[in-house]
Amino acid sequence: LPTVLRSHAPAHHFAIISDSNVAPLYALPLSDRLVRDGLRSDVFIFEAGEPNKTRASWASLTDAMLAAGIGRDGCVIAVGGGVTTDLAGFVAATFMRGISLVLVPTSLLAMIDASIGGKTGVDSPAGKNLVGAFHFPRFVAVDPDVLRTLPDADYRAGLAEAVKHGAIADASYMNWLVANAVAVLRRDVGFVDTLILRSIEIKAALVSRDEREAGIRAALNFGHTIGHAIERLSNFTVPHGHAVAIGMVVEARLGEAEGVTLPGTASTLQRALEALGLPVALPPGLDPLRLAQATGSDKKVRSNLVRYALVARLGEIAGTEGAWTHAVATDRVVATLGA
Ligand SMILES: NC(=O)c1ccc[n+]([C@@H]2O[C@H](COP(=O)([O-])OP(=O)(O)OC[C@H]3O[C@@H](n4cnc5c(N)ncnc54)[C@H](O)[C@@H]3O)[C@@H](O)[C@H]2O)c1
Ligand SMILES: [Zn+2]
Repeated sequence: LPTVLRSHAPAHHFAIISDSNVAPLYALPLSDRLVRDGLRSDVFIFEAGEPNKTRASWASLTDAMLAAGIGRDGCVIAVGGGVTTDLAGFVAATFMRGISLVLVPTSLLAMIDASIGGKTGVDSPAGKNLVGAFHFPRFVAVDPDVLRTLPDADYRAGLAEAVKHGAIADASYMNWLVANAVAVLRRDVGFVDTLILRSIEIKAALVSRDEREAGIRAALNFGHTIGHAIERLSNFTVPHGHAVAIGMVVEARLGEAEGVTLPGTASTLQRALEALGLPVALPPGLDPLRLAQATGSDKKVRSNLVRYALVARLGEIAGTEGAWTHAVATDRVVATLGA
């Protein structure tokens, strides 16, 4: 990194932002390495976990950076999972009206999804990611070796987004994931590298067609309207990727009920997710009506219907240019959830 930072993100002072789990593993050693290399670097740590992806964390990180004397010629290096890349990205987007940013994703989910596409932000009590900005990094450094320390549940959360990439854009990729589920779950190097590259290709292609989410980028929200509601109603005890896995199955069933999605898609998707060790059913005790209502304060809402990104079949998002999402009334969602 010192060499690449010098050439691609030169700065007077590097602010490494990391969470309390990842900082001792990677951020503190990286900072020592930069200092040994003659670069100026400080580490700013927040408490790990989605409940801390907040304006409060944004404020304390920003204040600490100001107190450390970081200026307009500083650069934020986010080292961590998607919570860190989103939060640190938003700090960089707003610090002195925007300073340069480098992303070093350390979770599978952050490598293949959260660090690609320029979206940064924090959650608010009204919903996830409701406060944020587009702010693109100078570069993203992905080192699959760091996945060795990633807990299993977090690794599988990343696999859910990989399945999503297959489901919306490439059926053969999804089939490859399922056919090689054992090697993928064992984190065999060759398979993990292939997975990371293919997922980044799919996400980057969609995002570069539509940087500001005016159209096709909405495909990436497949599974997320229900997924975000599950996360929120579970008080974030269900991790993002797991909520998205359940959300994709529900939204495929919804698509089938609406006549948008090829019949049988939900059950194929369900088997694929199960093969990769992901949950596919709503958490026990979650009331379908409350869940359907909770999708209402998601930011993808327009008018009183809720808009969903649905698939036509596995490997293909449903819709046409200018109309990539589908409005579904809450009672139809309750009917699907209750069925
Ligand atoms: N900006 C986007 O486009 C985008 C896209 C997808 C998801 N996201 C966001 O990403 C977040 C989810 O990301 P996540 O699943 O990475 O969550 P996370 O950042 O909370 O990381 C999951 C857990 O793994 C730990 N961890 C990360 N890397 C590790 C490593 N190498 N070794 C040991 N522990 C490690 C973290 O400390 C945390 O406890 C959500 O907030 C979601 O909204 C954003
Ligand atoms: Zn996601």
